[in-house]
Amino acid sequence: MGKLDGRVVVITGAARGQGEQEARLFVAEGAKVVLADVLDEQGRALAGELGESAAAYVHLDVSQEADWVAAVTAAKKTFGKIDGLVNNAGILRFNELVNTPLEEFQQVVQVNQVGTFLGIRNVAPEIEAAGGGTIVNTASYTALTGMAFVGAYAATKHAVLGLTRVAAVELAGKKIRVNAVCPGAVDTPMTNPAALDPAADPVESRAAVDELYRKLVPMGRMGQPEEVAALALFLTGDDSSYITGQPFVIDGGWLAGVSLF
Ligand SMILES: NC(=O)c1ccc[n+]([C@@H]2O[C@H](COP(=O)([O-])OP(=O)(O)OC[C@H]3O[C@@H](n4cnc5c(N)ncnc54)[C@H](O)[C@@H]3O)[C@@H](O)[C@H]2O)c1
Repeated sequence: MGKLDGRVVVITGAARGQGEQEARLFVAEGAKVVLADVLDEQGRALAGELGESAAAYVHLDVSQEADWVAAVTAAKKTFGKIDGLVNNAGILRFNELVNTPLEEFQQVVQVNQVGTFLGIRNVAPEIEAAGGGTIVNTASYTALTGMAFVGAYAATKHAVLGLTRVAAVELAGKKIRVNAVCPGAVDTPMTNPAALDPAADPVESRAAVDELYRKLVPMGRMGQPEEVAALALFLTGDDSSYITGQPFVIDGGWLAGVSLF
């Protein structure tokens, strides 16, 4: 028996990073997953690896409502219903607030905040029609505190928590639970410059990132995407059956305070 037997879950940003690990774990626990992303090649390859009886890929730019409508239609056609959503897609831009161009700020809002809103708006009615289910939104450590140079990002992640709480209240009567994961630093391409920049020396940049989080995080390391996936599984499955509207921090103790030594 898997913890998600019989469930059909849409996961955005599922081509790599945390979304990929959520897809792998959810399939291992018996779910059928719809992998949604803008990285079509990687997303299709992952769906192929997971097998067509368990996974399907759809192109979905979460900031575009027409893409959501098409993705919902495709998901229902493939697996018959949708009873879970993980709003995981997100982007990060580094800039001092006073130097952040309006277009950059709006781009981050469009993906992280509007994308989450559109996911809830388009998928919640399907979950209700399926008899209830879950939504897990991906917020961040920066949904609960500030950090220099990530103003646009932190603003959107605070907003994701607001959306989570309101959606939980509005959808509880429809048997839909809505919670948020708030990861600290997680080892994915988003936090590892060498994974995104072919010019970066992978050994050097990896060592610099490791050193930074060894100092900042009480547990002395970054989180792994598999650890966030385990939390998303908890919030999607019945183990969290009486929990809704909550932020779940997964950060190795970072938000608890700083180590002196
Ligand atoms: N890595 C971290 O340290 C960290 C910490 C806190 C929160 N998060 C959040 O976790 C989530 C997953 O990030 P990750 O760490 O796996 O990073 P990642 O960059 O590896 O993965 C993000 C995924 O989202 C996809 N994506 C980006 N824009 C999209 C769009 N418009 N439509 C659909 N898909 C889109 C990307 O193609 C990618 O597959 C994000 O919401 C991120 O903000 C990450």
